[in-house]
Amino acid sequence: MRLFKIVCVVGARPNFMKIAPLMREFENYPEIEAVLVHTGQHFDTVMSKLFFQELEIPAPHVNLEVGSGSHAIQTAKIMEKFEPVLMKEKPDLVLVVGDVNSTLGCALTAVKLQIPVAHVEAGLRSFDRSMPEEINRVLTDAISQYLFTTERSADENLLKEGVAKEKIHFVGNVMIDTLLRHKERADHSDVLSRLQVRKKSYGLVTLHRPSNVDDGDTFEGILSALKELSRKMPIIFPCHPRTRERIRSFNFSHDIDDGTNHPKNMTIVEPLGYLDFLKLMADARVVLTDSGGIQEETTIVGTPCLTLRESTERPVTVTEGTNIVVGTNREKILEKTFEVLSKNSLKGRIPELWDGKASERIVKVLTDSLC
Ligand code: UD1
Repeated sequence: MRLFKIVCVVGARPNFMKIAPLMREFENYPEIEAVLVHTGQHFDTVMSKLFFQELEIPAPHVNLEVGSGSHAIQTAKIMEKFEPVLMKEKPDLVLVVGDVNSTLGCALTAVKLQIPVAHVEAGLRSFDRSMPEEINRVLTDAISQYLFTTERSADENLLKEGVAKEKIHFVGNVMIDTLLRHKERADHSDVLSRLQVRKKSYGLVTLHRPSNVDDGDTFEGILSALKELSRKMPIIFPCHPRTRERIRSFNFSHDIDDGTNHPKNMTIVEPLGYLDFLKLMADARVVLTDSGGIQEETTIVGTPCLTLRESTERPVTVTEGTNIVVGTNREKILEKTFEVLSKNSLKGRIPELWDGKASERIVKVLTDSLC
């Protein structure tokens, strides 16, 4: 039996929940050797290490320790450090997930060495090329050999871009594989009592997109809407390092609670681990976010999600799920949020193939083709 080697790449927080079920599934195939490479794009305990522990991801074989930098510097460092790993390992395939700089940097390094690339979560398009993630998606898809999609719209996007039909595999959503696996464990989290909130009585917020937090006026408008909302219900805001840094540099901290007391009913906390966050998301009255993955996860747990962006690359979360794209205008955010709160529930359906078996399908396609 020939052994096939697959180098799997992770770099940033949203990659960890996507790679976890794939690494587990590879273990069922003795003919596959899966080598995990962490680029180190995210490096803190709260942004990285905690997820390896909670999601039982094997320790990476290699950590490139690239850290932060401008897009060019970060992507270039990833490529420079990934190339020798590929030259040493000589894999049959490189597997990348999502849309972060590590996804594109590693895919590009691999194809230049004539190593085929599999992209998990291919074909998603916001059609907004000012988003760094959109550039990463379009370019990664253009150079990938296997394109694994989460929703039908992604297949259509790829076909329109001229990708051959045989390369596209609609398999479902690995992020949901992870959610379904850990939901019960998350239910036991005591995060609600630690943060002193009651089930279905609080709003949960995450923000980190450069378009929202790097622009002072936009960020101020969003914070002002959140402050207004916090008069009606407690707001829990696990804060991404980029966002925390902007709160400091724009001098917005006087507007919000620092977490030590609750005068303004808005509690900013450190980024949370996967299980605590899942519990908070499932039990929130409403979620306000600019994240991609959270739009999908709220659809599964059935919590209304207001997406603070002008577009989504995940339209199935709107057409079938609980997501509403509201933009970043203060009045619009408040109007839509109060509208959602006035209704008892926002019913959604589970999107096609979001059934916890996406990683099984992906590994089956790969073994049928490679082995
Ligand atoms: C990256 C991804 C984005 C993803 C997000 C999730 C790209 C282009 N963007 O954005 O798609 O949704 O991750 O979190 O790849 N930092 C820390 N500790 C860490 C990691 C980062 O303090 O562990 C700081 C960095 O120093 C930097 C800032 O956070 O100042 C942003 O990190 P960066 O990797 O540039 O991108 P994200 O905004 O996290």
